[in-house]
Amino acid sequence: MSNGFIISAYIISSILFILSLGGLSNQETARRGNIYGMVGMAIAIIATLLSDQVSNYFLILIPVAFGGAIGAYFASRVEMTAMPELVAILHSFVGLAATLVGFATYVDPASHFVGVEKTIHDVEIYLGILIGAVTFTGSVVAYGKLNGSIGSKPLTLPARHFLNLGILIACIILGKIFIDADSTSSGMLPLILMTLLALAFGVHMVMAIGGADMPVVISMLNSYSGWAAAATGFMLSNDLLIVVGALVGSSGAILSYIMCRAMNRKFLSVIMGGFGTSSGGGGASGASEQGEVTSISAQETAELLGDSDSLVIVPGYGMAVAHAQHLVSELTKKLRDKNVDVKFAIHPVAGRMPGHMNVLLAEAKVPYDIVLEMDEINDDLGNTDVVMVIGANDIVNPSAIDEPDSPIAGMPVLEVWNAKNVIVMKRSMASGYAGVENPLFFKENTRMLFGDAKESVETIVSNL
Ligand code: TAP
Repeated sequence: MSNGFIISAYIISSILFILSLGGLSNQETARRGNIYGMVGMAIAIIATLLSDQVSNYFLILIPVAFGGAIGAYFASRVEMTAMPELVAILHSFVGLAATLVGFATYVDPASHFVGVEKTIHDVEIYLGILIGAVTFTGSVVAYGKLNGSIGSKPLTLPARHFLNLGILIACIILGKIFIDADSTSSGMLPLILMTLLALAFGVHMVMAIGGADMPVVISMLNSYSGWAAAATGFMLSNDLLIVVGALVGSSGAILSYIMCRAMNRKFLSVIMGGFGTSSGGGGASGASEQGEVTSISAQETAELLGDSDSLVIVPGYGMAVAHAQHLVSELTKKLRDKNVDVKFAIHPVAGRMPGHMNVLLAEAKVPYDIVLEMDEINDDLGNTDVVMVIGANDIVNPSAIDEPDSPIAGMPVLEVWNAKNVIVMKRSMASGYAGVENPLFFKENTRMLFGDAKESVETIVSNL
């Protein structure tokens, strides 16, 4: 196929990817955004297969069929609650691919250059492998932290900052040796040593990050995976990969910035790790004494809701676990028919991935105009009759404001305790993802509705 055709196809794909990102930034256009992305990717794959660089279809189609079947199997079975882990492990594949492509390009006799071109090519390979290896192991650890196989507590080695600095300096020195090497065999040793250091750094970097800071890490690894893809594009001289990698890299960086702002953290201090180490806020069991807990039944809750004029629902990770969103939508409709003013309050890090709650509520057809962001609704909570917290914990924890030693200190939260009545739906007194006890449960105006969120909402709906 002619080069002009491939370039045109790549330009169309790039435009579709940009439209896709634009679409995904808004709930009403998100579905369209997804379709743009899928069409763009289909065009990109077909154009690449038709390019002159592909000569052996057999060798390409076998792994594509094999990998595609595994991907389709897992993606079709994945629970909405396990989506963040799936995304994390997919990021790790991008990192691994960049690392492997880097080594393959380095040993490929067809890509040997001299002079300035050699230096540029070597820098591309070195940076590609460096970013790829960090992304690979960092994403694998993030996967483990998200699915619970690795604890959410940060690992704080005594000299961790020196360790990081040492790795950085070693990578710079090894990079100089690599670029100065005049043969592939003499450059291989520094390249392998740097790869091992980068793999170790990826593990250490994410292990050092506490549970509550994971949203920043996820968006950061998302960004890294984009830069790793862009580096692969440079190594393979593939323009589309460079453009797509840069799009993912920069949008991930913007998302990291938004997450940092939402959590009132400085990006550098998150990356340095170690938050969530102080003891303030109690342990995961929620066992320490903070006062009396008052519980409420689902029937009593239905009465309270029926008598109220305004209700704000705060959904959290537990709503996703319980699959309660459809019943919550039904409850909303019933209450609105009774002229109760119902709104939803969404915390930027509710759930386990950016936009998690918005996706669930959109799926359950909750009208967009009553779904408000934290900043839009926090000041109104004081005038609200009832706030119903459904499976949320860290995002409504007053210790973020009241306890300077708390691991989540400084993180903006939904100040639900200002409402006249607060109902918290959860199964036990256990803490949330950050492992911090929640004083909200002991406040005078709080009532705990214990049980699975879906069952509780179902009983409320049938009693209304
Ligand atoms: P969490 O603080 O994790 O609290 C969720 C609560 O839901 C738990 O306390 C749990 O209590 C309850 N729950 C679980 N299953 C339930 C069920 N079937 N029925 C009723 N309740 C159930 O969630 P959150 O408030 O949404 O906060 C999110 C946390 O995750 C933050 O710490 C955030 O930093 C972190 N995080 C977020 C992201 C992104 S990007 N959003 C990514 C990684 C980590 P019981 O066990 O007692 O029921």
